[in-house]
Amino acid sequence: MDVKLVNQPLSDSATDIVIEFLSPSSLESHTHASLLSFAKFEGKTEQICFLHEHKTLIVGLEQESNEEYRLSMTSAIKALQNTNYTSAKLCVPKEAYFQAAVEGALLGGYSFQDYKSEPKKSSFQTLIFVYNSEYDYEHVESIFQTTLVIANATNFVRDLVNHTPYDMTPQGMAVTADSLSKANNLECTILDVNGLEAEGMNAMLAVGRASSNPPRLIHLAYKPKNPKKIITLVGKGLTYDSGGLSLKAAASMVTMKMDKAGGCAVMGMIKAASELGLDIEVHAFVGAVENMIGGNAYKPDDVLRAKNGKTIEVRNTDAEGRLVLADVLGYAQEKVKADYIFDFATLTGACMVALGPYTTGVMGHNDELKTSFLEAASNAGEYCGILPFNRQLKKLIKSDLADVCNVSSKPYGGAITAALFLDHFIDEEMKEKWVHFDIAGSAYTESAWDVHSYGGTGAGVRMTLNWLLAQNA
Ligand code: BES
Ligand code: ZN
Ligand code: ZN
Repeated sequence: MDVKLVNQPLSDSATDIVIEFLSPSSLESHTHASLLSFAKFEGKTEQICFLHEHKTLIVGLEQESNEEYRLSMTSAIKALQNTNYTSAKLCVPKEAYFQAAVEGALLGGYSFQDYKSEPKKSSFQTLIFVYNSEYDYEHVESIFQTTLVIANATNFVRDLVNHTPYDMTPQGMAVTADSLSKANNLECTILDVNGLEAEGMNAMLAVGRASSNPPRLIHLAYKPKNPKKIITLVGKGLTYDSGGLSLKAAASMVTMKMDKAGGCAVMGMIKAASELGLDIEVHAFVGAVENMIGGNAYKPDDVLRAKNGKTIEVRNTDAEGRLVLADVLGYAQEKVKADYIFDFATLTGACMVALGPYTTGVMGHNDELKTSFLEAASNAGEYCGILPFNRQLKKLIKSDLADVCNVSSKPYGGAITAALFLDHFIDEEMKEKWVHFDIAGSAYTESAWDVHSYGGTGAGVRMTLNWLLAQNA
């Protein structure tokens, strides 16, 4: 779908149909009030009504808010994609909601068809956003371009996540990173098993050992001249998580191709940052690994020495993401002296228990920094919630054998104890500069919600770009 912004009145663009927002309070005074009443249209958000003979698509909007514009546009686009209309136009009445409407169109219109032998083809090709004379055109145009870049990066992440573990192996992730680096002029370093051994990344190597698809460490760097800040992003890239010898139950294993979503997200973030030309140096590190079973698999009872020298008692091979991140965080901090370090991981089922399946868990030591992400998430249309650390929870990952244990001794607070495990691998001077995002729930969905259809959601991308844009200002 081609989405355009034009600087001309609504009547000047020739399209098949026009999209019009309508609130319940304006329903009665509408020119086609009786038709709408016959159709039982009430103006509820996400409700739509085609007035074909008037070449109009009426879209409900209960309240004027970013979220409602996003949802309404998602419904409108989905409905149009199921018709034979080829083009539509609309005018967003207020500049404040313009970004949300564009997001709704671009993200709500996404669907992944690569594995269908007959991909669903839609006649709908062109959506035109029309300039409103009350806007500051240049400002709106810049919002439009920024929104396009971020939404495209989100859809890029969704595509990556949606690929099967057979098609998107650790090497597949490395190849994707390499082509992204060429397209966007990024630096790209890939470590294979030998490289990981040379770096002492034994925890990551242990997780990947039983797989016939060997692990890769990916480092992408976007380096503008005179950057205002240096930001490190780290992503969990488990291209498949079978649980390892602590094998997952059959039902829980399904969807575990999405365990690479954090790694995919940081690739999407650096893609967007570079396309926006931010004055911020961005580094994206991905630990791309497959957690499998086999005669040489790592085991519960193993003790691993991570890159930073700490020893880890393994009591559950399904708590593998934190082992991979332990080494990647160690590597990232050694290679880049950043102002901030953020990691994104589908780390724990417990995060979904705590916050529900739509919300990203935010954890770390710096309250102000965590709060700044809540604001960025809210501006960007993502759900985030802070899960607090405390010294009691910290004690639950003590090990009698090694420096730390990879699972908690108690069955509650698992999202937080996982983050407290990661904390062992954050250097002292970075403690206040680190935030961990658990995207276990928010990164993937099997039923459509908000702007998301079946599959990867691209969680983290919009929020982080919003945060980076604020730093860039
Ligand atoms: N990748 C999973 C977490 C996950 C679960 C993500 C469901 C998305 C949906 C992670 O590696 C895992 O298996 N975590 C275990 C940790 C436990 C063994 C301490 C979990 O959450 O059960
Ligand atoms: Zn696992
Ligand atoms: Zn996992």
